[in-house]
Amino acid sequence: MNHSSHPLALPPDAARPDEATGIITFDFAKLTPRERYKLLIGAVVPRPIALVTTISKDGVVNAAPFSFFNCLSADPAILALGVEYRPTGAQKDTGRNVRESQVFTVNIVSDAILAAMNVCAVPFGPDIDELREAGLTAMTGVKVQSPWIGEAPAAFECRHHTTLSIGSSREIILGEVVFAHFHADTVDPANHHVDPVALDAVGRMGGQGYASTRDYFDLPTMSVEQWREGRIADRNAPPPKTGR
Ligand SMILES: Cc1cc2nc3c(=O)[nH]c(=O)nc-3n(C[C@H](O)[C@H](O)[C@H](O)COP(=O)(O)O)c2cc1C
Repeated sequence: MNHSSHPLALPPDAARPDEATGIITFDFAKLTPRERYKLLIGAVVPRPIALVTTISKDGVVNAAPFSFFNCLSADPAILALGVEYRPTGAQKDTGRNVRESQVFTVNIVSDAILAAMNVCAVPFGPDIDELREAGLTAMTGVKVQSPWIGEAPAAFECRHHTTLSIGSSREIILGEVVFAHFHADTVDPANHHVDPVALDAVGRMGGQGYASTRDYFDLPTMSVEQWREGRIADRNAPPPKTGR
């Protein structure tokens, strides 16, 4: 039974609403994978989007977006991707290409390339170059064979570090960043400050949702002294484009 579609339906066994506290609890051991997925992608938001470019052993360029993605470490510089298998159990082209070529490139998705990113999510066969379909420009990688996307505001060339096999339906791929490309207006080369306004990154919400970063603000972390003295930090306007 689909509980969400019927207004009078009782919640499933794994969900426990407590009217006194207004809290609903979920025992993850009793949830289906789909139910866990919906709770996680709906609440762990916004997630950054990696438009990942790879190359097959036959030289076909592949591009696909991944929002099970984040930066997990700066030393070493590690980016992580959560790649599901297809419902048939087959590997996605991205996973297969990383295993075979040992490299991939993470391109940051800005508002300007959002529609093109969505074209890259179409489940084309392995012989189709998604960048060409989406009208994006493949630029030759400097340290890796996979191309970077000329229109992306920032791109990170990665060498495969480790793949964590965490179950029968997905894998977590860790890559070490070995080279980066930034559009000149997005970064100050003197102090490495990335301008979030120029970057204009888009994040993924639950379902088919997205969120822009256009309501960006600063909120400084307070010292213990500032907090004790009642000097509570306020939200500030975005920093100037030149960095700090
Ligand atoms: C915004 C967005 C985020 C996505 N995130 C993921 C993800 O984190 N993991 C995943 O396996 N698929 C994700 N997908 C689906 C893949 O992009 C899709 O399956 C794609 O066709 C895979 O292409 P490939 O076979 O060329 O690797 C996402 C799709 C979109 C539109």
